Amino acid sequence: MKLGILSRAPRSYSTQRLRTAALDRGHQVKVLNTLRFAIDLSGEEPDLQFRGRQLSDYDAVLPRIGNSITYFGTAVVRQFEQMDVYTPNTANGIGNSRDKLRASQILSRHNIGMPATTFVWDRADVIPAIERVGGAPVVIKLLEGTQGIGVILAPTLKVAEAIIETLQSTRQQVLIQRFVKESRGRDIRALVVGDRVVAAMRRVAQGDEFRSNVHRGGTVERVDLDPAYEQVAVRAAQIMGLKVAGVDMLEGDDGPLVMEVNSSPGLEGIEMATKLDVAGAIIDYIDNQVAFPQIDVRERLSVSTGYGVAEIVVHGDADLVGKTLGESGLRDLDITVLTLHRGTTVIANPFNRHVLEPDDRLLCFGKLEEMRSMIPARPKRRARIKKLPKQPLPIDS
Ligand SMILES: Nc1ncnc2c1ncn2[C@@H]1O[C@H](COP(=O)(O)OP(=O)(O)O)[C@@H](O)[C@H]1O
Ligand SMILES: [Mg+2]
Repeated sequence: MKLGILSRAPRSYSTQRLRTAALDRGHQVKVLNTLRFAIDLSGEEPDLQFRGRQLSDYDAVLPRIGNSITYFGTAVVRQFEQMDVYTPNTANGIGNSRDKLRASQILSRHNIGMPATTFVWDRADVIPAIERVGGAPVVIKLLEGTQGIGVILAPTLKVAEAIIETLQSTRQQVLIQRFVKESRGRDIRALVVGDRVVAAMRRVAQGDEFRSNVHRGGTVERVDLDPAYEQVAVRAAQIMGLKVAGVDMLEGDDGPLVMEVNSSPGLEGIEMATKLDVAGAIIDYIDNQVAFPQIDVRERLSVSTGYGVAEIVVHGDADLVGKTLGESGLRDLDITVLTLHRGTTVIANPFNRHVLEPDDRLLCFGKLEEMRSMIPARPKRRARIKKLPKQPLPIDS
C-alpha cells in the first residue's frame, strides 16, 4: 500500500518507527507535514494539495495530529475521509477524544468506569460540584491539557475554588474530578490497535507527584493486563471512533477507570517498556483494513428520503418476543436488521432464524414512518435521590 503519515515531527521516535515498520513490510510511505496541505473544495470532487501541488494517490493515512493543530489537522483528515482514503482514526474520533469533557460525555452512556467528573459554569455551582464528586482533595483539569500539564490536585475546597476561579477568569474551562487515591500515582496505558490491546504498561509517578505522565518524570514498566482492563480499553477506543489509541486508566477499587483516550499515542515509552513491535502492529492493521475506508453510515443511508437508521428495543410484553427474526414481519415493513445487541454481545447481520428475547436491541435500516411506532418511549430519568428517612407527611393547609 501507499501510506501517508500525517505528522509535523518527521524525526520523532514514533514517526521514525512507523515509517521504518512500513518500509520493512514493503510498503511505500511518506511523512507528510499536516500543515502543508490545502483543502480544495473548488472542483467537482473533494481534493487535497500538498506543498502547492496536486497530492498523489494514497491508499491510507495515519494521522498523528498534535494538540496545537487540532482544528486544521482534523480538517485534513476529514478531507481524506471524503476522498475515500482509509484512516484508522477519523476526524470525529480525534476531535472527540481531544476534549476531555466531550470524551467523558460520550463514554458515559456506555457503562465504562470513569472517575466521577463534573463540569459547571457558575461560581455558585463550584462547591456543590466538588462535593458531588467526593470533596477535597479534588482533581481539576483543563479540557485540552496534555502530558500532565493542566492537571492539578487541589488539597482543600478553598484552594480548589480559588484555582477554578483563577482559571475561569482567564477564560479557561475546567473539569472537576474525583481524586482516585487508591491508584497511588500509578496508571495503566493500553495501546489499542483495532479490536485488541497490543501492548500495555504501568506508569508510576515520581516522589510525591500524583501525575504519572512520562513527561512529568513517571517511570514505565510492562504489565500483563487483566482481561477486564483490556476489554474496557478496546471498547473505549471503539466508542471514540479510534482504531489506534492509547487508553489511560486508573486502577480503582472496583476496576478500571478510564481517564482519557489519546488518538496519537507516543510509541517510545511503550515499546521500551514492553519490547514489543507496536509500530509493526499498527502498520499491519492498516494494511488489513485499507480496502474499507470509513463510511459515515447515518450520513450515507439518510440520503434515501424517508429512510434512516433507528434502534428498536424488544419489550418483554411485545409481540416480537419468542418470534424469529424471519417471523417478526420486519422485512415486510421494509426494515432490515443490521445488528442485534443482546446484553454485551452483538450479532452482526443476524439470520432469520434468531429468536428474539426481551430487551434485545435491533439496529435497523428502513422506512422511518414504519419504525416510528416501534421506537420505545424515552425512558424516564432514574432519580438519584438518596432515600430520606421517613418523615411525617406535610399537612396541607
Ligand atoms: N482523577 C484522578 N485521580 C488520580 N490521578 C489522576 C486523576 N486524573 C489524572 N490523574 C493523574 O494525572 C495524569 C494526567 O492526567 P490526564 O487526564 O491523563 O491528563 P493528560 O492529558 O495531561 O495526560 C494521569 O496519568 C494520572 O496519573
Ligand atoms: Mg494522559
